[in-house]
Amino acid sequence: MLKKFQNDETLAEAVSDQIESLLQKKPDALICIAGGETPLKTMAELVRRNKKGKIDFSKAYFVGLDEWVGLGRETKGSCRQTLYDYFYDQLDNVQPDHICFFDGKASDLDTECKRIDTFIEERGGIDFILLGVGMNGHIGFNEPGVPVDVNAHVVDLDDVTKKVMSKYFDQDLPLTNGISLGMKQIEQAKEIVVAATGAKKAEIIERTIQSEPTTEIPATLLKNAPNTQFFVDQEAGARV
Ligand code: F6R
Repeated sequence: MLKKFQNDETLAEAVSDQIESLLQKKPDALICIAGGETPLKTMAELVRRNKKGKIDFSKAYFVGLDEWVGLGRETKGSCRQTLYDYFYDQLDNVQPDHICFFDGKASDLDTECKRIDTFIEERGGIDFILLGVGMNGHIGFNEPGVPVDVNAHVVDLDDVTKKVMSKYFDQDLPLTNGISLGMKQIEQAKEIVVAATGAKKAEIIERTIQSEPTTEIPATLLKNAPNTQFFVDQEAGARV
């Protein structure tokens, strides 16, 4: 389902409403929020509601979506830095051991993937996932041509991702790989929101909405999941 919002603020409010009502029903829900720019407004809105006592995250669980291989929290622009600085560390009463995040510097990345998969399995799957969409349609670091039937795995970054990534970092980084939840466990999430904001996303949103599910545009694969909502602002939704 496609839903258009006036702007990125109203979109962030709608996502926050969904998370708020989920936590009322299931205080220990497992929530996954992407890094990158798109979710920043939602994170700010959730923090605001938490400070006002409207949302209680004290029993909630969180899992990371992805990370650049080789990066940790000390690198501004890493997924870990984004999620911790703008979200987890801003919330009152979050239990640190309820957060499971990819370690992009792990020496054994396969073991790291298994650790994340186990955390998700032990919680009975992801309850709510907020995703952004890459300029090439990627979801997390599931790049075009992605295998559909995998859980957390190591990925070769697509050329488009390598080009776009400089917007996150204040230095040139020779990054070639990512570590990401897989489409299988993403599609199994009980509520999925794919969000896109801004004019630069208009073309990929058009392609995503108009195309049949194809691994060439990973975002389209989420159309197969019954609980997927595509949330766009006016600019990102200008062609659909
Ligand atoms: C980030 C992630 C990526 C981004 C996507 C959109 O953790 O998983 O898939 O969601 O590249 O990035 P932004 O939101 O910066 O446009």
